[in-house]
Amino acid sequence: MLLLGIESSCDETAASVVENCTSLRSSVIASQAMEHRKYGGVVPELASRRHCENILATVQQALDEADVTVEMLDGVAVTYTPGLIGALLVGVNFAKGLAYAAGKPLIPVHHIAGHIAANYLAHPELRPPYLCLVVSGGHTMLVEVQDYTVFRLLGTTRDDAAGECFDKCARVLGYPYPGGVQIDRAAQHGDPEKYPLPQPHVAGSALDMSFSGLKTAVINTVHHAAQTGEAIDAPSMAASLQTTVARILTEKTELAAAQTGYKTIAMAGGVSANSGLRRAMQAMCDRHGYSLYMPPLSLCGDNAAMIACQGSYQFLAGITADESLNAYASKQLAAMLPGKG
Ligand code: KG4
Ligand code: ZN
Repeated sequence: MLLLGIESSCDETAASVVENCTSLRSSVIASQAMEHRKYGGVVPELASRRHCENILATVQQALDEADVTVEMLDGVAVTYTPGLIGALLVGVNFAKGLAYAAGKPLIPVHHIAGHIAANYLAHPELRPPYLCLVVSGGHTMLVEVQDYTVFRLLGTTRDDAAGECFDKCARVLGYPYPGGVQIDRAAQHGDPEKYPLPQPHVAGSALDMSFSGLKTAVINTVHHAAQTGEAIDAPSMAASLQTTVARILTEKTELAAAQTGYKTIAMAGGVSANSGLRRAMQAMCDRHGYSLYMPPLSLCGDNAAMIACQGSYQFLAGITADESLNAYASKQLAAMLPGKG
């Protein structure tokens, strides 16, 4: 079974061919990050235009590198939600046209389900059910992965996502976009105890999280230092922030595992590349004897291999779409139903 995956939800135009669900034949990513850096974040209109320019060559390169023709494909999987609507529409319309012209099934993939599936590419022995911590630029969620296409949300952030918190704090500390990886690098030279930061709790909802108070605390400390003429120790602030975010996420995951009884835990999304978080989660899992699965760094961020992989499991479960498929800026991750559309 050969599936083409297409991803265009944010600032990466990506295409990939995956064989038999987990075997990677090609993965091409055309990143626009350096272009958006000038503006300190993703400019949606610019992202849509670049996707339009890049998508054909990106898909062609993915097919060529996999040594596959469109005729050989069993289906075309595409990210249809969540993300920037204009950006998503480019991938969705391209995939619809390709699938229709070639007479191939079209498979609509939820971006977060794709992030979770990145783990199957790296660890084909991982099988549902398990518990997954999803941490990306726009989402922070604890998900019960009951089956490849059946998800239950256990907890989520009430305000900012962890990635958003990293990115905004990086910006006030003077690091360029995308800030998360800059915080990670800077943190290696900082003292994580130097700036005590709050660890917010959401009253009455033990598995929910909040990151906006933490972000505000960092911003206030930086502004206060600027007003009083003190120098801020940016690497130590980065280290303090990273340690606090990692502690919050690890403690919530530990609690979710205790409540649900899962001993298999996975991590997914761009922030799962964070070295402090990876270390903290590994230590927690080692302490309890849990098995921890994390994507390799190359599959943590946005890519189309994860979309092709998740699309393959959906194809096997009969979850396809017809030409009326639309893109949605947001949509809950839940159980997927077989059938067209
Ligand atoms: O999953 P992703 O690539 O895109 C979304 O679906 O949002 O996640 C992007 C997020 C950004 O906030 C980025 O700063 C963050 O992941 N990120 C990191 C690291 N690498 C990427 N955050 C912390 N440490 C990293 N090493
Ligand atoms: Zn993503």
